[in-house]
Amino acid sequence: MNAGNDLRVSAVRSYWDTHTLGLQYASDPTLEPGSAEFFAHIRPWMNPYKFPWIMRRIECEAALLAGKHLLEVGCGMGFDSLEFLKRGVRVTATDLTENAARLARRHFELEGVNAECVQVENALALSFPDATFDAVWANGVLHHTGDARRAVQEVRRVLKPGGRAIISHFYRRPSWMWTLHRLGREPIEAHEEDAPVSEFYTDDEVLGFFTGFEIVEAVREHHRALPVAKRGAKAALYRWGFRPAYNLLPEPLALKWAYKLSVTAIRR
Ligand SMILES: C[S@@+](CC[C@H](N)C(=O)[O-])C[C@H]1O[C@@H](n2cnc3c(N)ncnc32)[C@H](O)[C@@H]1O
Repeated sequence: MNAGNDLRVSAVRSYWDTHTLGLQYASDPTLEPGSAEFFAHIRPWMNPYKFPWIMRRIECEAALLAGKHLLEVGCGMGFDSLEFLKRGVRVTATDLTENAARLARRHFELEGVNAECVQVENALALSFPDATFDAVWANGVLHHTGDARRAVQEVRRVLKPGGRAIISHFYRRPSWMWTLHRLGREPIEAHEEDAPVSEFYTDDEVLGFFTGFEIVEAVREHHRALPVAKRGAKAALYRWGFRPAYNLLPEPLALKWAYKLSVTAIRR
C-alpha cells in the first residue's frame, strides 16, 4: 500500500480504536466495558439483535457452515462471531483494532465459547494464505475501509473456491440515510462524531466489486427508519418527524430508498 493509503488506514484505526462499536450505547457509565453486565446492557443495540434480518442470515449461514471455518472481518466486540460459535461454526475473528480484539476475546470467554483465533487484521491486507476459509463474514465494515473493492478482493483471495462471502452490508446511495447524512452534516445514529471513512455506493458499484464471484443474493435492507439511541435536537426531529412520516411510504417505494445492500456471493 502507498503512503496515502497508510495514512487513511491509520486515521480509520485510531477512530475505531476509541469508538469500538457498542461503547456509544452504554447509557450507564458505571458499567466496565468488557464486563458481563456491560455486554448484556448494550446487546439490544447490537447488529444481530437490533436488525432481525441479520440474525436470520446468521442462522441460515450457520446451518450451511457447521464444522467449517469462517473468518469474520471487522468483528468489533464479537457479537456476530459469538452467534456463529454458538451454532458450531469454527470462527477466526479479526478486527483492525487491538481494543476490539481484546473485547471480543473477553466476550467469548464470558460466554464460554472458543474461537480458533482472535487477532488484529486489516481487511485491505489480510495476513492469511490464499484459499484458507470456507466463508468470510463482514458486517458493517467494508464501507469504512476506504477501498471496498480491494477489501472484497482480499475476501476472495482468502476464500477456498466455492467459499461463501457474506457481506452485510454496504451503505447505499441514493437512500434515505444518505440524504439525511448530507442534510444533517452528521450521522443520525449514535456516534458523537463520524467515522473518518463511511462510503455510500450505488448498487451497480457494489456488484462491480464482486469480480470473480457468483452472486447468490444482493438484497436491499433497512428500508424502514428504525429507532436511534442518539439524543439532541436532530435526533428529536428524526424521532418525531422524519421517522413516522417516512415509514408511511408503501413498501416498494421505501425499498427504493433502502439504506443498505447486503451481498452473499460464492468464490469462483
Ligand atoms: C461499524 S463497526 C462494526 C463492528 C461489528 N462488525 C458489529 O457489527 O458489531 C466497524 C468495524 O470495522 C472495523 N474496521 C474498520 N476498518 C477496518 C479494516 N480496514 N480492517 C478490519 N476491520 C476494520 C472497525 O474497527 C470496527 O470494529
